[in-house]
Amino acid sequence: MKITFYGQNSLLIDISGTQLMVDPFISGNPLSKDLVDVNRIKADFVLLTHAHQDHTLDAETIAKNNNATLVSNYEIAMYYEKKGITVHPMNHGGSWQFDFGKVKYVNAIHTSSFADGTYGGQPGGFVIEGEHKNIYIAGDTALTQDMKLIPMQTKLDLAILPIGDNFTMGVDDAIRASDFVECDKVLGVHYDTFGYIKIDHEEAKRKFYNAGKDLMLLEIGGSLEL
Ligand code: NI
Ligand code: MN
Repeated sequence: MKITFYGQNSLLIDISGTQLMVDPFISGNPLSKDLVDVNRIKADFVLLTHAHQDHTLDAETIAKNNNATLVSNYEIAMYYEKKGITVHPMNHGGSWQFDFGKVKYVNAIHTSSFADGTYGGQPGGFVIEGEHKNIYIAGDTALTQDMKLIPMQTKLDLAILPIGDNFTMGVDDAIRASDFVECDKVLGVHYDTFGYIKIDHEEAKRKFYNAGKDLMLLEIGGSLEL
């Protein structure tokens, strides 16, 4: 499994050649718009954690360019189905076995409305099991006790957690979240994009290190392999 970071919560996940584009926000991201060409992204699936624009801005373009299947909660799926996109609706607690692996839509504490005000259902995260590797994409969320449910079912190899604070967990709560999901290997996301979420990288890494954990921060376009 290869995970490439395109800024904010935008992640391209390659599972045995199947490409999953998660929360594409590239053309409007000042950090990635000049580095990544949305029209060159290849995706078989587009996964959306919630409807906020900093997670969905390029979803329609990428889904239509690739004839990809869009996977999200019911309300978000219906929003994109009306635009002619193939969708797979899910809701909290539900799993589906796709050809590439298993996806579970899990709880997040946040909000979820589209930029035009359309209701975007309740926000979530994803647990993805594929290629004998298991990852948790928290999406935008507060620290929540529900995270403790995840390791009851899934032994994680990587937790992808927001660390930018203000709109989501910050570093200290992300360290607690890492305890809750029983995974010490963390990829930090949702930081630096806007003034509200600018963080000190070295301080964040030091805090994780002091807690006996590994925080990875990728450059835009950077990848890690599991
Ligand atoms: Ni959000
Ligand atoms: Mn966000």
